[in-house]
Amino acid sequence: MSKHTDWDALKAAALAVRLRAWAPYSKFKVGAAIAAAGHIFVGCNVENVSYPVGICAERSAISAMVAAGVTQPDAIVVAAGPLVTPCGMCRQALVEFSPNLPVLLVSADTAEQQETSLEALLPGAFQF
Ligand code: THU
Repeated sequence: MSKHTDWDALKAAALAVRLRAWAPYSKFKVGAAIAAAGHIFVGCNVENVSYPVGICAERSAISAMVAAGVTQPDAIVVAAGPLVTPCGMCRQALVEFSPNLPVLLVSADTAEQQETSLEALLPGAFQF
């Protein structure tokens, strides 16, 4: 994992924003926190009664980062109840900004965590 990333702060941010998720349909709350440019950008899943309108936590965090004028993420923490990996769409969305981003998965239920990377999660990502 990156030496310069404050993983404890990033984890705390992902766990905190997860509690703000709008997930009345799945009841599955997810939080994501991206470290970039010395800041932390957070996102949570926001569901909708028209199901496909919903957005995942990871892409929500990417939007916050880009809207702040930042495009080079250093690391991401994804927090859910159980330990989960980002969905395929979010993997592709993250590759856009950092093909080998360090990723830390955290379980809010058990405090279990797992280190991985975007390259491990999405080998052979689409590029042109
Ligand atoms: N979800 C995320 O926020 N991130 C993922 O990587 C996978 C799934 C959300 C979408 C939906 O609101 C809920 O989790 C259940 O799929």
